[in-house]
Amino acid sequence: MINNQGEMLTVPLSLEDIKKSYGRMSRFYALPEGIFEKGLRQKGLQLLSVAPGEVVLEVGVGTGYSLKEIANSVGEDGKAHGIDITPQMLGITGKRVKKAGFMDRVELYEGDARRMPYQNGKFDAVYMASTLELFDTPDIPVVLSEIKRILKPKGRLGVASLTKEGREGSLFIRFYGWLHQKVPKYANCRPINVEKLIEDAGYQIAKTEEFILLKIAPWRIVVAKPLTD
Ligand SMILES: C[S@@+](CC[C@H](N)C(=O)[O-])C[C@H]1O[C@@H](n2cnc3c(N)ncnc32)[C@H](O)[C@@H]1O
Repeated sequence: MINNQGEMLTVPLSLEDIKKSYGRMSRFYALPEGIFEKGLRQKGLQLLSVAPGEVVLEVGVGTGYSLKEIANSVGEDGKAHGIDITPQMLGITGKRVKKAGFMDRVELYEGDARRMPYQNGKFDAVYMASTLELFDTPDIPVVLSEIKRILKPKGRLGVASLTKEGREGSLFIRFYGWLHQKVPKYANCRPINVEKLIEDAGYQIAKTEEFILLKIAPWRIVVAKPLTD
C-alpha cells in the first residue's frame, strides 16, 4: 500500500521485464491510448504548443497517437522523433505515421531513454506522456537530466504524468499504489510528485494543469524550461 508520508513507490522491474510487458500490452494498448487518453493527449499537446519547423522528440511513443499529432504540428519543415524501448510499440507507431503520410518527417529509434543517442541541444521540445512515472525512483532524475542535455537552452519539456501531488490520501491513489505493488508487470506506472521531480532536476515550471482522467485518475500536465547553470 502506498505510504502516507508521500514517499514514492519503487518499480521492481528490469528493463527486460518492462520491454516484455509492453510487448504483450502492445496488442491492445491502442485502445486505452487512442480512446481513454484522448482528452489528456489533446490538453498535453495544447500546453506544449508545437510550432511548424520545430524539431521535437517524444519519449515512450507507445502506439503513436501523440507522435502523429506532433508530426502534423511540425509540418514539412520540422522533424518529429520518437524513442521507445519496445519494438512492438515502435512497429505500431511506424504504421500509424506512415498511414498519415508523415514518414518523411518522422524518425523512430529503439532505445532506452536513460541513454539517448541524440546530440546535445538538438530539440526545441521533448514530450513524455504516461511514461516518466514508470521509471524507477533513481532513474527519474537520470531521464530528466538526459532530456535537459538534448534540449536547446530555450527548449521546453512537456510531461503528462499520473500525480499524487496534494492527493496522497485519495482512494484512487491508494488503490493504484496497491495495484502497482500486486501486479507491477501491468500497473508498472505509479503516481509521482511530478512538479517537484522536474524542479529538482533543474527546470523551471512554465505551465501546469491538473487533468482528471475518466473523472477519477489525477494526471498533471507540466511544461518546463531548463535552467541554465
Ligand atoms: C505507459 S506507455 C505510454 C505510451 C504513450 N506515451 C501514451 O501516452 O499512452 C509507456 C511507454 O514507454 C516505453 N518505455 C518504457 N521504458 C522505456 C525506456 N527505458 N526507454 C524508452 N521507452 C520506454 C514503453 O515501451 C511504452 O511504450
